[in-house]
Order: sequence, then structure tokens, then C-alpha cells
Amino acid sequence: MTLQWTEDLATGERVIDNHHKNIFKVANDLQAAINEGKGEEFAGKILQFLEYYVTEHFRAEEDFMTKYNYFQGYTAHKADHKQFMKDFDAFKKEFATKGASASLALQLQYWLFNWLTIHIGREDKKLGAFMLAKQKHKG
Ligand SMILES: [Fe+2]
Repeated sequence: MTLQWTEDLATGERVIDNHHKNIFKVANDLQAAINEGKGEEFAGKILQFLEYYVTEHFRAEEDFMTKYNYFQGYTAHKADHKQFMKDFDAFKKEFATKGASASLALQLQYWLFNWLTIHIGREDKKLGAFMLAKQKHKG
């Protein structure tokens, strides 16, 4: 499975879109590693990357929500982020106790793509549209 970031996932906010593109890239790198039989090696790396990168990414989005007074979508959006971190913790725990496995790598990749497309398509795009509308209103 290879998934590309496409324009229909664009939020219109360049910072957010660039973050998303980078996360897609890493998910595809993981896929490539799995195809080469190196998924196990890569799983640890991707967990490390996500820990840092996604935390920063969520913070950036949540900062935008505060800055733009995005009240109506804030709770649902934040709940999604929280769920992501919860799922992520489960992966980290599995990695810490059982080590990397091909099955862990596959699950991680599947989960990441699923999450990206659903969350971006739903919450991030809503936020993006809200910010664009506010910018237009101002300008
Ligand atoms: Fe988000």
C-alpha cells in the first residue's frame, strides 16, 4: 500500500500541510522498508520520529485553533489527537516489551495511513477551512 498526500487533503495552511506531507513520507518509507524486509529495523526509528514530530505537529495545530478562536471544533479535534497518542503509546509499549516485528511494522503502517486520511479529511480540513474564512473576512 502506498498512499500519497494529494491536494484533496490540503488544509490550505502551509505549515500544517507540510507537516502532513512529511508524515506521509515517513509512512511510505516504512512501507518501502517492509517491502525490502527491513520493516523490523525501521519500526523503532519511525516510533522515535513520530514521538517527536507528531507532538510538535499537534501543538502547532492546537496553537492555530487558539489563535483563530476555533471553539466549535476544538473539543472533537483535540479528542482525535488524544486518541492518536493513546494508540501510539500502545505501539510504543509493544515495541518496548516485544521488540520490533514485521507484524508491528505492518500494523503501524496501516494505522498511520488510516489515521492520516481520516483525521486530515475530517478535522484538519475543517480547521483549515475555518482559518481561511477568517483570513478572508479580515483581509
Ligand atoms: Fe489535527
